[in-house]
Amino acid sequence: MNSEDILHQVADEVAVCTKCDLHHSRKHTVPGEGPPDAEIMFIGEGPGFHENEQGRPFVGAAGKFLEQLLASISMQREQVFIANVVKCRPPGNRDPQTEELAACSDYLERQIMAINPKVIATLGRFSLQRYLPNAKISQVHGQAVRVKGRLIFPMYHPAAALHQPSLKVTVEADFAALPKLVQEAAKIPEYVDQTTQETEEEPKQLSLF
Ligand code: URA
Ligand code: SF4
Repeated sequence: MNSEDILHQVADEVAVCTKCDLHHSRKHTVPGEGPPDAEIMFIGEGPGFHENEQGRPFVGAAGKFLEQLLASISMQREQVFIANVVKCRPPGNRDPQTEELAACSDYLERQIMAINPKVIATLGRFSLQRYLPNAKISQVHGQAVRVKGRLIFPMYHPAAALHQPSLKVTVEADFAALPKLVQEAAKIPEYVDQTTQETEEEPKQLSLF
């Protein structure tokens, strides 16, 4: 199966998934979208109201801001893959719970393996937790790290910047580093290819950036 087929298959499975309680209240599943060969993958938290209505990620206010941020580095959302750690909306936009994150994790993992992005930009603390369980976003944002063979770029969630305008400049500055990071990522010898299993190595700070 090629990457595109795998992504379709994941989306098909998600569409009928009942692995956690979030399936009871969802209207549409939101598997994520973007090109199967995207160089950058954004991983947010979970669908909100508008995403649940439309079945597409980041189509509300946070999505607008994400699109503006992409435009600031001359990119469009169609060029990147946008996904979430849970594919169904947590009621009232509450935090996803541990069991829900665990139940949904495999879908995201398969998407990551299929796309094999050069850079994974985590948006907010739940996607950050996947790679750096003990990290504080205020301390690690904007600093690329290699975790489990992948280049992770922790960022604040765009919604956080909307709620706390003082973060806006920080998010914009972190975003500005992305294009160079993608270029540099291609040069990392350890950069995993699609056939490589992820390893359980310790997070490594990249002095390169
Ligand atoms: N916030 C998220 O984390 N994901 C979305 O898809 C929309 C808003
Ligand atoms: Fe399945 Fe994930 Fe939706 Fe839970 S959040 S029902 S695990 S697709």
